[in-house]
Amino acid sequence: MSPHTVEIEVPEECDIEQAGETVEMDVPEDEYLLAAARDRGIWLPADCQQGWCTTCAAELLSGDVDQSDSRRYYEEDREADMILPCTAKPRSDVTFEACQYEEMLDLRAEHDQPPGRSKR
Ligand code: FES
Repeated sequence: MSPHTVEIEVPEECDIEQAGETVEMDVPEDEYLLAAARDRGIWLPADCQQGWCTTCAAELLSGDVDQSDSRRYYEEDREADMILPCTAKPRSDVTFEACQYEEMLDLRAEHDQPPGRSKR
């Protein structure tokens, strides 16, 4: 299986070297998006790297990911196109916007799901 093309849109307010840029990388289906990015020097925010804390949250703009390795990922997250790159493997070419932690907290709070309830 050939790797998928993954584009990461990094917002200006994201506190990493590539802020304001769109970066592209090839990612095989068995590699997590976060690890793939970090291997290429793109230090997206992350903490647990188990799909638990939502520090790495991002918005999926196009494509499909396998999020089944995440320890806590809800149907509502998927419906809102929010992903956890630390435990997301590409299932097609993918474009996502990084650094969406605050948005993820709002979404979780809206659905009364952790984390978020304790912070909002
Ligand atoms: S780093 Fe914790 S959910 Fe991704």
